[in-house]
Amino acid sequence: MDLADIRDDLKEELLTEAQLHERLEEIAREIERDYEGRDVLLVGVLRGAVMVMADLARSLKKHVEMDWMAVSSYGSGTVSSGVVRILKDLDTDLTNRHVLIVEDIIDSGLTLSWLRQNLVSRGAASVEICTMLRKPDALKVEVDVKYCGFDIPNEFVIGYGLDYAEKYRNLRGVGILAPHVYQ
Ligand code: PRP
Repeated sequence: MDLADIRDDLKEELLTEAQLHERLEEIAREIERDYEGRDVLLVGVLRGAVMVMADLARSLKKHVEMDWMAVSSYGSGTVSSGVVRILKDLDTDLTNRHVLIVEDIIDSGLTLSWLRQNLVSRGAASVEICTMLRKPDALKVEVDVKYCGFDIPNEFVIGYGLDYAEKYRNLRGVGILAPHVYQ
């Protein structure tokens, strides 16, 4: 689905598919340089990261392994609490592995800050973070992000993996949802 297909649901078109892909190619080159001679395990966080993971992994001109986690933040509605529950764990032993967490968005930062600590505690050689989007104005904890696609305004964004009530994940681009959709 394209942003044009849901224009009435949008307040604004934020990022096109072309912009997302162009930025991912730049990030892929950085990752290839930074991890030269080292094996990387990409860890995708379900469900939003599926699109970033699929595109990033294919952009990389090196072998990578992929594994997945599903986590859920205890909290009310859309507000993260920072207490995270693992719904699906990794199948891979992280001992001495170079782990790159792949995310669609960092909002408050609470999920990623917890997740990084959790993966470090499993004996990984390194744990870094790659996120397509970040909302600097929504951050509640500092998260050291090695690769960030775009810093975006603190608005309700959907598309490229991001949902509202499980809709819009399959949009090629990213848009700001119009308030009439969720109010
Ligand atoms: C999103 C995103 C991160 C988290 C970031 O997932 O994929 O995992 O929220 O929020 P935070 O920085 O405030 O902790 P979500 O809980 O919406 O699940 P989903 O990926 O299945 O949609």
